[in-house]
Amino acid sequence: MKLCLCCQKPTDEDGRYHARCLKQLFGAARAPKIPFSVADLPRKIISTGARMSISGMQIKASIRLDAEKSALEVVASGGTYILKPEPSQFEELPQNENLCMNIAAELGINVPPHGLFPMADGQLCYVIKRFDRRGGEPLRNETMFQILEATDKYSGSLEQIGKAIREHATNVGLDTIDFFERALLSFLIGNGDMHLKNWALLIDGKKIGLAPCYDFISSRILIPNEEDSALTINGKKNKLKRPDFDALAASLKIDSKAAANSFEKLRGAEETLRRMAIHSELNTKLRQKLTDAIASRYKRLT
Ligand SMILES: Nc1ncnc2c1ncn2[C@@H]1O[C@H](COP(=O)(O)OP(=O)(O)O)[C@@H](O)[C@H]1O
Ligand SMILES: [Mg+2]
Repeated sequence: MKLCLCCQKPTDEDGRYHARCLKQLFGAARAPKIPFSVADLPRKIISTGARMSISGMQIKASIRLDAEKSALEVVASGGTYILKPEPSQFEELPQNENLCMNIAAELGINVPPHGLFPMADGQLCYVIKRFDRRGGEPLRNETMFQILEATDKYSGSLEQIGKAIREHATNVGLDTIDFFERALLSFLIGNGDMHLKNWALLIDGKKIGLAPCYDFISSRILIPNEEDSALTINGKKNKLKRPDFDALAASLKIDSKAAANSFEKLRGAEETLRRMAIHSELNTKLRQKLTDAIASRYKRLT
């Protein structure tokens, strides 16, 4: 069975992608070429005059599509995509991120179009469409690091983020539940890297809301003693259990019925998470680690 390298669902179409997935991402049913490899990237970025990286830990590039050549190119400004190659220290991170974003999408979380694409040397990289552009114009995107005027992205709590969402969001009810479900899902897939720069508010005219999901990975399968959570929940980063998430829901002022619905929704998704991990582009060893992690997290939450 061939799986689409964007949504990872089966495809009978030629090549490795659904036409609809490519259209969503690039506006054309054709996978563009990437005429450079990871090794070329630092030179490419510098030669455009761009900063070495968009804020963040991993090497990545701001990209635009040259529709005429059907190729991706590195740009200093006006990029409409972000390209993230495999970093040397984290095995198959692009496959990991693509999978976790697909899991989030399956659970109804807002996820920008994204996919895996071969670079010039055949290595897969992860490409995601920018959510902070509208017809070429930038939208304001403020990370929680900026909003909370933090100095350390790993110091803070999900409750503080919740408070900022409650203060600023246009649709508080929807955004707090969305935030709560992303926090639960992060725990279930072993995403211990949702620090203050991986949460943001997007400002679109008069509407302010939780930015779409990004940098969503299972860090647990790459870092053996990874913490349960990058930020505290109910005062803890580790040994998290159901009562800690109950306390988070209460702090977000989510009523008990809505919180129970979210727990129920996530609880019902265990088989989906397991199946998607198995049918992913991760290698056998990482798939096993992920399905083990998911099983043990479900046990702790229920
Ligand atoms: N799809 C996107 N659209 C717009 N901005 C994004 C998108 N993905 C990431 N960013 C921004 O770029 C920064 C770095 O990207 P991220 O995926 O978090 O990389 P890293 O793994 O290096 O932290 C993020 O903090 C966020 O502000
Ligand atoms: Mg990040």
